[in-house]
Amino acid sequence: TAYSRAFATARDNPESFWGEVGHDIHWFEPWSKTLHVEDPVFPNWFVGGKLNMCYNAVDRHVESGRGEQPAIIYESPVTGTKQIITFRELQDQVSRLAGVLVKHGVRKGDLVVIYMPMVPQAMFTMLACARIGAPHSLIFGGFASKELSVRINHAKPKLMVTASFGIEPGRRVEYIPLVEKALELSSHRPSKVLIYNRPNMVRRRNLDWEEEMATAQPHDCVSVPSNHPLYVLYTSGTTGTPKGVVRDTAGYAVMLKWTMSNIYGLSPGDVWWAASDLGWVVGHSYICYGPLLHGNSTILYEGKPVGTPDPGAFFRVLSENGASSMFTAPTAIRAIRQQDPYAAIGKRYPLLRSLFLAGERCDVETLEWAKKSFGVPVLDHWWQTETGSAITSSCIGLGNSLTPPAGQAGKPVPGYNVIDDDMQEVKPRTLGNIVVRLPLPPGAALSLWQNRDLFNKLYFTKFPGYYDTMDAGFVDEEGFLYIMSRSDDVINVAGHRLSAGALEESVLLHPAVGDCAVVGLEDTLKGVVPLALCVQKTEEEIVNEMVKLVRDTVGPVAAFRKVLFVRGLPKTRSGKIPRSSLADLVNGKPYKITPTIEDPEVFKDIERQVEKVLGPRA
Ligand code: COA
Ligand code: AMP
Repeated sequence: TAYSRAFATARDNPESFWGEVGHDIHWFEPWSKTLHVEDPVFPNWFVGGKLNMCYNAVDRHVESGRGEQPAIIYESPVTGTKQIITFRELQDQVSRLAGVLVKHGVRKGDLVVIYMPMVPQAMFTMLACARIGAPHSLIFGGFASKELSVRINHAKPKLMVTASFGIEPGRRVEYIPLVEKALELSSHRPSKVLIYNRPNMVRRRNLDWEEEMATAQPHDCVSVPSNHPLYVLYTSGTTGTPKGVVRDTAGYAVMLKWTMSNIYGLSPGDVWWAASDLGWVVGHSYICYGPLLHGNSTILYEGKPVGTPDPGAFFRVLSENGASSMFTAPTAIRAIRQQDPYAAIGKRYPLLRSLFLAGERCDVETLEWAKKSFGVPVLDHWWQTETGSAITSSCIGLGNSLTPPAGQAGKPVPGYNVIDDDMQEVKPRTLGNIVVRLPLPPGAALSLWQNRDLFNKLYFTKFPGYYDTMDAGFVDEEGFLYIMSRSDDVINVAGHRLSAGALEESVLLHPAVGDCAVVGLEDTLKGVVPLALCVQKTEEEIVNEMVKLVRDTVGPVAAFRKVLFVRGLPKTRSGKIPRSSLADLVNGKPYKITPTIEDPEVFKDIERQVEKVLGPRA
C-alpha cells in the first residue's frame, strides 16, 4: 500500500523521503543537507535552509490567490459572535502586530509570552512572533498565577501579550489581576505588557492593543535558519519542574504540512476544526500552524462541547461552516453523550467526512457512540507535546483503513520507528514501554528550553539510541498500536496533561497536610480525575508548628506553649470575641454570657474541652 511504501522509505532512507516532502514549503534559501546527525538526540533537519513560518502560513496564500478565502473562522458562543478573517485580513493584522512588537523592542530570538483566551488575537500574536523570528510561549488560560509565574520566570520573556479577560461558562476569568500577581511572584519581568482589551472594557495602563495597532507599521517576514526556535511549549512530567519543549521552524513546517493531507486527508481550501485550546500542542499544531500552512480554513472555537448553549454545539458549528474534518478529545465526546445520549440535537445537522480523536485514551464505548452519532469514520491517534504531531495514526491520505479495530490508535506515522523496550520488533499483544528509534523525524522537539541536559537525560538515557515516549502499550497482529498508560507520574484529566507531583506540591502547601500522593481516579466524563491521598497532621504536630511560628514571629518571650482545639468560638453579632468571659471560663471562674452572643452553646463545648485537657477547674 501507499502507507507501507511511505513508511519503509522514511525508515530506510529518511533523507530522500523528507527531502522530497520539504519542497512543499517555501524557502527563502534552499537547504544544503536534508539530515545531518552528529548526535542522534539532536538531529539537524534541512541544514542551511532559510524560511519563515508566518510567510508559509499566511503571505504565501495571499500571493497565490487565496487572499479572499477564510483563514480563521472564529466561532464564539460565549460572546455570541462569529467572525471570518480572510488570509488577506490575517496578513494585514499579523504584519501590523509584528510592527508593534518590533517597535517595542522585540528582536529576532527574543521570547514573547502569550497568555490569552481563545480569540483570533491570540493567533495573530503567535503568527506575528513567527514573522519576526521571536519564539513564543503560549500559556494555557486555565493555569493560574503560580503556574504562570513559574513559566515566566523560566522563559524570561522580553514582552508579554495578554487580554483583559477570558470567558468560562458562568464567569469571567480576569486575566489582568492574574498576570499582575504572576509578575509579582516572578523575579523576571518582561519590559512591556501588551493588552488586548476585549470589547466593553475600560482602558488600563500598559500598551493598548487598539491604540498600538492603529498607528502600526507593517513588518515583513524575516528569514530564519531551519532550526530557529518557533516556540517553547511548557508541559508536565513527573515533577513540577518546568519542561519547555522547544520546536524548530523548518522540520515542524514540513511535517505539519505533510500531515494535513496524509494523516487528515484534507485538500487546500477545506474547512477544518481542531476543538482544542491554543494552549495545548494540539492547538499550536492544528488550530494554528498546520491548517494555515496547508491553505485550510481553521475554526477557532471559544466555547465548550456542552452548555454553550447545548450539546448540539459541535454539530452546528461543523455543519454551518461546512467543515470537512474535525479533531477533538474523547472527553468532549463523553460530555456530549452524557447530555444528549441519542445525539438528538446533533442529528439535525448534516455532517463531515472524518473525526479524529487524541489527547487521552479513548474507551471503546465512546468510540462506538461517536461513530454512530457523527456517522463518519472516527479515528483515534496518539501523540505528545514533545512530538508536535502524531506518532501513530490512520494515515487516510496514504490509503490506511477507515475502519481500524476498536481500541487502537493507528500505525506508526512514517518517520516514527516504533519499537518496544527490548529494542526488538514489537511482539503482538505484549504490553511494554513504547520507544522510537533515533533520529526522530522533522518537527519533533529540538530540546527543552534552557535545559539541554535534562532533555537528554529524561528522554534518551534509559534506552540509549531511542526516544522514551513514557507511554506503555502493545501492538496487534496487524500492526495497530494500543496505547494503555503512562509509565511516569503524568495523569491525563479531560485530555489535559498534568503532573501528579505538581498537584502534590500544591496540596502540601496546606498546613494540615503531612504527606500526600495524587493518583488518577477513573471518571466517566474526564477519563480520570485527580484523587489526593493525604495524611493529616496530628494535633501534636500542629501545636509544635504553631509554637515554633509564635517563637519565630513574636519571640520566645511570649512563653507560648498551650493550644486547645475547639469546635467554635463565641462571637457577638458584630464579630467580637468575649475574651474576658473566656478567660474566666478557662480559669474556672464564673463567666458571663452577654445577650449579643450569637451561639451561647459554644461555651459549653469549650468548657468540656478545657476540663478534658487541662483537668477539672477549681
Ligand atoms: N481558562 C480559565 N479556566 C478554565 C479554562 C481556561 N481556558 N479551561 C478550563 N477552565 C476551568 C473551567 O472553567 C473549570 O472550572 P470550574 O471547576 O470552576 O468549573 C475547570 O477549569 C475544569 O475545566 P474542565 O476540565 O475543562 O472541565 P469543564 O467541566 O469546564 O468541562 C469538558 C468539561 C469535557 C467540556 C472539557 O473538559 C473539555 O472540553 N475537554 C476537552 C479537552 C480538550 O480539548 N483537550 C485538548 C487535548 S486534544
Ligand atoms: P500531551 O503532551 O498533553 O499532548 O499529552 C500526551 C499524552 O497524552 C501521551 O503521552 C499519552 O499518555 C496521552 N495520549 C495522547 N493521545 C492519546 C491517545 N490517542 N490514546 C491514549 N493516550 C493518549
